[in-house]
Amino acid sequence: MSDALLLQNDKARIVDTRTMDWADPLPQEPLHGVPGAKVKVLARFPGGEPRVQLMYVPPGIDNLNPAGVAERHYHRTVREWVYILSGEMPFREYEYPDQQVGNLVHYRTGMFLDRLPGEGSAHGLDPGNGGTVGCVCLEWKTGPGTAISEKGSDKETVVVTEKQVHAAKAPAARPSTVTSGPGIAYRTPSVTIYDTLAMQWHVPGPGEPFHGTGAKVKVLARDEEGHVLAQSLWFPPGSDSMGHGGRPERHYHKTVHEWVYVLDGEAAIREYGHDESGPGVRVDFRAGVFLEREPGPGAFHGVDASAPSPVGFHCLEWRIGRGSAAGEAGTGEENVVVH
Ligand SMILES: [Fe+2]
Ligand SMILES: [Fe+2]
Repeated sequence: MSDALLLQNDKARIVDTRTMDWADPLPQEPLHGVPGAKVKVLARFPGGEPRVQLMYVPPGIDNLNPAGVAERHYHRTVREWVYILSGEMPFREYEYPDQQVGNLVHYRTGMFLDRLPGEGSAHGLDPGNGGTVGCVCLEWKTGPGTAISEKGSDKETVVVTEKQVHAAKAPAARPSTVTSGPGIAYRTPSVTIYDTLAMQWHVPGPGEPFHGTGAKVKVLARDEEGHVLAQSLWFPPGSDSMGHGGRPERHYHKTVHEWVYVLDGEAAIREYGHDESGPGVRVDFRAGVFLEREPGPGAFHGVDASAPSPVGFHCLEWRIGRGSAAGEAGTGEENVVVH
């Protein structure tokens, strides 16, 4: 792990996930007891439960619980996001918990899941169809208890086994709420699954994160008020700032907690900690680098203006809060910027 840790200060932690070792899931954590499953835990909740992790599900696995029981389940309160980094995985989405046969979704590289809590988003692996090659995915969520092996899942997660479903009288089929569209593999009121590689890049509109910076985005999730929570973000070659004031700068966010996972390209950033006038510490963004940054003084950061990106870079970025990006509505109040 020490080789993988690129930076740690009061507020920021950056790791190279490619040099981390895969680990067996710990007892009372997600995927514990699932044969062959591996994890790299990247960030934890204040209570210690995994908050962001890479997960490997091997081929031939058709359920994710230690007892090996085929099931579907839903989460009462937690919203969950998953990005498929490699491999393939057949999966079933259920529009209601006792739907007899779920809707098959075949996950592949670049697909992204946004799952709201509640009965309308029951889901599970495809019973009897464990897939051929397994998959590696990046998962993050708003709270713990979503995996059956995880502490607290008895309160958070409602499990219905296949046996229970098929022993009960079949409910009347309900009209399907499934829709699709360009770049959307599957959508219901509670679940959206994007095929991000088939989505178009957009120039952020006025008031949206990174408007006017040259960045392009694919927005992946929004909050109830429509503010961006997660997006796929591309910065062009030559970028020598994150856009605040349109010139080299360093800044921190007053309230926004953010996470970044680099997918492609290269960029050099600098983390200055509390010392906004010092040289900072250079960290090279490459595929597989993960960053967690908490808000507040001590979190000064910026692009390394002496080493503008030669080829641009592409990352997933998500956050709690709004106003942290240049060009975004509220950015003047949220950011403390020093040129
Ligand atoms: Fe789940
Ligand atoms: Fe920032």
